[in-house]
Amino acid sequence: MKIAVLPGDGIGTEIVAEAIKVLEVLDLPFEMESALVGGTAFDAHGHPLPEATLKLAKEADAVLFGAVGDWKYDKLERQFRPEQAILGLRKNLGLFANFRPAICYEQLVSASSLKPELVSGLDILIIRELTGDIYFGQPRGRRIAVDGHFPGAEEAFDTMRYSRPEIERIAHVAFQAARKRNKRVTSVDKNNVLETSQLWKDVMVEIGTQYPDVALDHMLVDNAAMQLVKAPKSFDVIVTGNMFGDILSDEASMLTGSIGMLPSASLNAQNQGLYEPSHGSAPDIAGKGVANPLATILSAAMMLRFSLQQADAADRIESAVQSVLAAGLRTPDIYSAGTTKVGTQQMGDAVVAA
Ligand code: NAI
Ligand code: MG
Repeated sequence: MKIAVLPGDGIGTEIVAEAIKVLEVLDLPFEMESALVGGTAFDAHGHPLPEATLKLAKEADAVLFGAVGDWKYDKLERQFRPEQAILGLRKNLGLFANFRPAICYEQLVSASSLKPELVSGLDILIIRELTGDIYFGQPRGRRIAVDGHFPGAEEAFDTMRYSRPEIERIAHVAFQAARKRNKRVTSVDKNNVLETSQLWKDVMVEIGTQYPDVALDHMLVDNAAMQLVKAPKSFDVIVTGNMFGDILSDEASMLTGSIGMLPSASLNAQNQGLYEPSHGSAPDIAGKGVANPLATILSAAMMLRFSLQQADAADRIESAVQSVLAAGLRTPDIYSAGTTKVGTQQMGDAVVAA
């Protein structure tokens, strides 16, 4: 078993170092190999996703990814910006299914943005389609408008696009995930105005007939945004397209206390996956030793479960995280009165010890 380790930029290197400590203490037979990605790769090799890094990622059974990006690259042409590395990895590895669990640990209920009774016991899973939709659809660009409200003015356009097979495969992923949980799928779209969403809904209904044991319902994205803060526990599995999923999953992260707690997995058809925290490179706190490493450590647990068939080891990591929280250790992002404030390394050490 081979794990490609891509720490990236900003807090990426700090938090991935803690996840590696945790993986090493498990004493399992896997090999880890690191490579540069993002801004650090651009600085060293002139490209955010060098050939050698992509090759390592393709050959590995799983990729453990930190985060990429820094304001200092904002002026670069788009293809050289650090964020292109993550888009390139998703595209080249065919990582079409993004799993973002939003779990509110009992010890962190008070850190949530919502009332305790709304989030206590929260355990939902957002499944976001990751390689289609308006982020990739062609054509896109800028031009001088020939029609519309302001002919002759500069305009920009993107294309929202989904094919039937793209929707079918993410539907299967969602129904199968729901089977292992509470057997409910909510498909989120905007079928009252969008053609892509009408196809999305049709395909969800069709594939749903193959899973009679799973209840399927549909919700418009604007209502879903509202229900996530009004009654988040009413969901089990949410399945949605790339853009709606991007926004709803960040919204859901705030239910759990901190984005520093949220892991994610992005899988392809072969169950090969890229595992990363849901947050970015947090340049505002990089190098200060205060970033929360738990999202990355929990991502490593998802990696063991989904891509490396080590469910027991994944369980051990998740319960270690819970016991560290129960012991009152908190990085600043989840700190509240009466708990003990620790830094990135102390948090990682505590998980290793647990
Ligand atoms: P961000 O997620 O990096 O930070 C948002 C806020 O959350 C900041 O205040 C940050 O300090 C805090 N935060 C994030 N992770 C934390 C952690 N583990 N512990 C404690 N606090 C944490 O998002 P932002 O600021 O919008 O983007 C920063 C850079 O990251 C940008 O260059 C962006 O493009 C990139 N980015 C990269 C992603 C990736 O690598 N997959 C995903 C999202 C953003
Ligand atoms: Mg996002």
